[in-house]
Amino acid sequence: MRTENGRIIHLADYRPTDFVLERVDLTFELDPTNTKVDARLIFHRREGADPGAPLVLDGDELSLSGLLFDQGEIPASQYDATPESLTIRDLPAQTPFEITITTFINPEANTQLMGLYRTNGIYCTQCEAEGFRRITYFPDRPDVLAPYTITIIADKAANPVLLSNGNFLGGGGYDEGRAFAAWFDPHPKPSYLFALVAGDLGVVEDTFTTMSGREVALKIYVEHGKEARVGYAMDALKRSMKWDEEVFGREYDLDIFMIVAVSDFNMGAMENKGLNVFNDKYVLADPEIATDADYANIEAIIAHEYFHNWTGNRITCRDWFQLCLKEGLTVYRDHEFSADQRSRAVKRIAEVRHLKSEQFPEDAGPLAHPVRPTKYREINNFYTTTVYEKGSEVTRMIATILGPQLFKAGMDLYFERHDGEAATIEDFVKCFEDASGRDLTQFSLWYHQAGTPLVSVSSAFDQPKGVFTLSFEQLVPPTPGQSAKEPMHIPLRFGLLLPDGTEAKPTAIEGAEVTGDVLHLTRRNQVVTFSGIAGRPVVTLNRGFSAPVNVHFEQAPADLAHIARHDADLFARWQAFSDIALPNLVEAARKARDGGEITVDPLLAETLIAVAGDETLEPAFRAQILALPSEADVAREHGSNNDPDAIRAGREAVLSVVAHQGAALFAALFDRNHTRGSFTPDAASAGKRTLRNAALGYLAIAEGTPERAAKAFATADNMTDLSAALTVLAHRFPEAPETEAALESFRARFAENPLVIDKWFAIQATIPGSGALARVERLMESPLFNGSNPNRVRALVGTFAFSNPTGFNRPDGEGYRFLASQILEIDPKNPQLAARILTSMRSWRALEEVRAEHALNALRRIAGAEKLSADVSDIVERMLN
Ligand code: ARG
Ligand code: ZN
Repeated sequence: MRTENGRIIHLADYRPTDFVLERVDLTFELDPTNTKVDARLIFHRREGADPGAPLVLDGDELSLSGLLFDQGEIPASQYDATPESLTIRDLPAQTPFEITITTFINPEANTQLMGLYRTNGIYCTQCEAEGFRRITYFPDRPDVLAPYTITIIADKAANPVLLSNGNFLGGGGYDEGRAFAAWFDPHPKPSYLFALVAGDLGVVEDTFTTMSGREVALKIYVEHGKEARVGYAMDALKRSMKWDEEVFGREYDLDIFMIVAVSDFNMGAMENKGLNVFNDKYVLADPEIATDADYANIEAIIAHEYFHNWTGNRITCRDWFQLCLKEGLTVYRDHEFSADQRSRAVKRIAEVRHLKSEQFPEDAGPLAHPVRPTKYREINNFYTTTVYEKGSEVTRMIATILGPQLFKAGMDLYFERHDGEAATIEDFVKCFEDASGRDLTQFSLWYHQAGTPLVSVSSAFDQPKGVFTLSFEQLVPPTPGQSAKEPMHIPLRFGLLLPDGTEAKPTAIEGAEVTGDVLHLTRRNQVVTFSGIAGRPVVTLNRGFSAPVNVHFEQAPADLAHIARHDADLFARWQAFSDIALPNLVEAARKARDGGEITVDPLLAETLIAVAGDETLEPAFRAQILALPSEADVAREHGSNNDPDAIRAGREAVLSVVAHQGAALFAALFDRNHTRGSFTPDAASAGKRTLRNAALGYLAIAEGTPERAAKAFATADNMTDLSAALTVLAHRFPEAPETEAALESFRARFAENPLVIDKWFAIQATIPGSGALARVERLMESPLFNGSNPNRVRALVGTFAFSNPTGFNRPDGEGYRFLASQILEIDPKNPQLAARILTSMRSWRALEEVRAEHALNALRRIAGAEKLSADVSDIVERMLN
């Protein structure tokens, strides 16, 4: 573990290195417990740098075994080595020089999964953000770029596959059963993009011909026996390569592009130059093991990592504060890709659902931070939904404000101006200013001010004058370290719907800049008038979720129903429906807690039934309408003093009303949308399955028996339907013999496939109610559980804490006590994993006081533990502040 535990890094302290790294030459002699690394580094002193400054290299748990200067001995008095750094003094003022460093590392003992480690007998690396310094002493920061030559030497029988970044130089047999391979990556890159993979792997090969006619070899490496499951990932890769050429004009730049799937990985995947390493969960798929959601994730993540080749690798980050420069932008690019491959509106709804359920709570709690933070203690804790998803929304707003042509011009300028560089957010924004002539100074506050802006709206209509008025007030809530905020530039897409279904065309608009259908809010208070309006219009606001804000606008339910049924923008229809549903769910939760009869606005079920039954609409969209706002959505809307049991009870009451009223429709949807016997993973077929399975959920409530779900389980011919039926059984009828039988049959059938067993864990971890904890503890004893595999831990412990509101937030606090014990157990092995799972408690202050008190005690217990990683102590301390 790093010892710089308390050190805070500030953006303001950034300065370039004193030395420029010209070339890197690494030789690995692989051994499971004692790998030798020789790093030959050529440096020269930067022009203008202090001629006496020492060279200071980063390390993490390293020990120095050898050090040469220009191939010769170097006196011990000239350097100092600690596990965290290597400092070399009296280096040449002008001429380039060569340093050769030897270290020995133990991949087998590397349970943090950072640096070089072993997973299922495969050597693999993860270097972002600061893992390279666990391999050798190095200037381990993203603004140090160099071409790399890599030589790998390893036991031949155990390691027929030896991979690194760039193009293959050569390799072959070596003496005494050793094999070697050499790779050269001509594209200067920072150390976080370095990768090495070695072992006995199967491979699936294909090719892609780029827009300029070059043929690129595509190779996906997986454990033997899993080759048949990479077809979809390969297809997604080729579609991604094509799309990036067509939409962003970006061509791939090496002779080979490789993906390796490994089973122990801390996150989704990693964009190492030419050699992406993936969590196998985001590569392997076939209808028997993968759900439609899995297919969509694979497509998105394959695209995301591939797109990093330009946004991240060719143009990288100057420092880690700029993380959103590559992540926010690349998420935006993968969102656009998926929208083009699938249904744009449905994709947008899913994105917004995710943003609201993950990023909005982060932005409203103790872990809130700007998209471009200004300080951090542990950079691993900033791979957040704020940096990624809100970062993507900020990029989307630039596109909205500029329009497609100018946005494209700005992107082209960015690629042209900064290719090969380590850039900043300011560099990025400047490209759009220069391409468009628009001043984005105020807009840039989106990078700097944390917190979700709240836009309050009221309207008035002067019939005789034909003038419609919208009054806006914007407020950015205080967040840790930022109490006072400036007004932001908020682009709101809007429409004024007339009773006859057409849209009003105002003769004049005053009080705000309007470009096309975008209204630009820029002041704290703004009154906007629309002239020449014949009848009272219904306002549809923030169409397409053009800005990531909360809107408070008291619109009559009838107006919302009008939008839900008639808006030209499908996203707005879904949003309007949610705006009908949410107040009903919040009110029902209040009644469930305080007493009183729960009543539901009849418009809710009426609108739901009308839209879900509208055969002119795509099934995937109708399924989104059926998925009422979640318990977490209700908690967020309710804001504070939350009682998860009451929220659930209230929501269940509303679900029951809808289920009974819509029973006939749901039965019809269930019958008409099966895809049995003809599985394809495309979006249209997936949409049918989502709709059918949503209907099954309601039917289980209306019918009150497990029969239909049990039959659906027995007849399912794909994982989507199978796991959906199992979920209905487990969540609705946890005690039924049908459920027990189905869980057992699922377990027996997939016991050999850990990725599928993760679904079995997750479904059981989310069974609502106070019995969940005992169930989770029992499942942890199962031979199928493995506490050192991140996917297993996330599927069982993570899913329980993140996605089981009533089970985790038990009023007696046992859920929090359990989590605290888990965190303390995981932390010494894998701090990143522990810190990530701990963020499940980020909204603890919004709980009612009894639970909040228990949560506080659990957090204090973690904070008081004897030895904590920087990762966990950073999170727990911010949560307690
Ligand atoms: N850059 C990777 C991506 O594509 C994620 C790396 C996460 N690294 C970490 N230390 N959490 O999103
Ligand atoms: Zn990324």
